[in-house]
Amino acid sequence: MILEILDTYEKMSDRAAEIFKESVNRNPEIVLGLPTGSSPVGMYKRICDDYKRGELDLSQTTTFNLDEYIGLPPEHEQSYHHFMATHLFNCVNLRPENIHLPHASAEKKQVACEEYEQKIQKAGAIDLQILGIGRNGHIGFNEPGNPFESRTHVVKLHQETREANARFFDSLKEVPEYSITMGIKTIMRSKRILLLATGEKKAEAVKKTLYGPISPEFPASVLQLDPDCRILIDKAAGKSLEGDTRYLEA
Ligand code: GLP
Repeated sequence: MILEILDTYEKMSDRAAEIFKESVNRNPEIVLGLPTGSSPVGMYKRICDDYKRGELDLSQTTTFNLDEYIGLPPEHEQSYHHFMATHLFNCVNLRPENIHLPHASAEKKQVACEEYEQKIQKAGAIDLQILGIGRNGHIGFNEPGNPFESRTHVVKLHQETREANARFFDSLKEVPEYSITMGIKTIMRSKRILLLATGEKKAEAVKKTLYGPISPEFPASVLQLDPDCRILIDKAAGKSLEGDTRYLEA
């Protein structure tokens, strides 16, 4: 793993957007895996600004989102369809047919999961997968205990995840109980992985991701198996590293 510690959330977002832009400019037909949550919001803002300045062309680019809640229609304000439209899709020139999110409102969820997995394979694998992380180590919505071999599947959200995400809803009971997420195996098949973590609340999760035992009990620990996985954090998220510089880029 390669660790980069940036001073602030703003600088982390600058760096993430820079990696995004370089990757797209190098290969305009790139296949991207995209996250939701508050961590990537700054990155998306900068990507939109880059596009407006004419520094980015996403017309040949394909995207696959990590996950989507079951039970929220795509137009619901807290659905990830809505999040992505607001923060990225409505402000850049991605073609609608090249944008993919799990079809969580499909009647046959299992079929929707298999179709999503097939679409990713047909696109020829994800070139750059960007991730956030939950405090319990979840990536996408792969909760603790989820096998490393998993592909796109339906997941029951853990109570702590629902509680963490309740800040976006009027009350906890409105937070969906299930979602569809890419599996750990789907994520790990990506050619490059970039994880973003910010703020003191993520400090323990960052430490376990880097140095904890590799175990499905802490899903992000699987990233230790990918020597090229790049982790961008701000200083606050690095608080528990106590000067451990093993993975710091020279
Ligand atoms: C949700 C998403 C994850 C994301 C996590 C962290 O649970 N499904 O993909 O990484 O939130 O979100 P935040 O960046 O808001 O802390």
